[in-house]
Amino acid sequence: MRKSIQKILNYKPQNKKITVLTAYDYSTAKYADLGGVDMILVGDSLAQVVLGLDNTSDISMNEMKIFVRAVSRGVENALLIADMPYMSFQIDKSQTVQNACELIKAGANAVKLEGASDYIIDNIKHLTQIGIPVVGHIGFTPQSINILGGNKIQGKTASKAEEILSQAQKLQEAGCFAVVLELMPQECAKYVTQNIQIPTIGIGAGKFCDGQVLVIDDILGKFDKFSPRFVRKYADLKTTITQAVKQYCADVESGDFPNENECYKMEDEEREKIETH
Ligand code: KIV
Repeated sequence: MRKSIQKILNYKPQNKKITVLTAYDYSTAKYADLGGVDMILVGDSLAQVVLGLDNTSDISMNEMKIFVRAVSRGVENALLIADMPYMSFQIDKSQTVQNACELIKAGANAVKLEGASDYIIDNIKHLTQIGIPVVGHIGFTPQSINILGGNKIQGKTASKAEEILSQAQKLQEAGCFAVVLELMPQECAKYVTQNIQIPTIGIGAGKFCDGQVLVIDDILGKFDKFSPRFVRKYADLKTTITQAVKQYCADVESGDFPNENECYKMEDEEREKIETH
């Protein structure tokens, strides 16, 4: 059975860290789940790491639903969160509800929305009031890259940290059960974490957050287009995959693959008939 939101909420008072990773396909989700992660996020980062697009905002609702369905089939224990794609929650309330419901129907237990403007807060309230669990996301919000002017560290000054705290408090009041803090000094993330009741999940936000999230392709060393300094690599799948493919090509070319155990055989009687034909 998947972890409940209540179970995740009990971590903060117990000082137990929340572990979160992204996943975008069935088998990776299954192994992330087996590895014991608390929450799995089908992030819109899939636009970049899976589809090779330039921006996270290049993914549509229809595409997101396909990935959520695939991941959902692999997840038994973790709580599954789906990112609401760019422009799926900005237009109006009824479209926001419709889109969030579609992600829940595709297998997510909660949705994540970027931003905390009054308009977004209003839409989040609408979702939480009808019982859709929501995770907020503030600090650097990749869907707003054009406004933020690039991958810039947020909350660098005390007054900016106050602004981020105020956004986090608004998200909490709107009913979010957790908030992602992306790309900010650890002092800013600590200030926010200590002044809200809901858990903070950091990415590039230091060790004082209540939990951490990373992109799975980054920790597995599979995505190499860019690698932020906050990523820790736990495997080198780029090398593993490249080496395996090289060996496969060599084995096919040399005739080593397939061998006697890797093929099917006719009964002798049948083989003789075609050999003597
Ligand atoms: O899209 C994503 O993967 C995310 C996380 C990295 C927080 O939003």
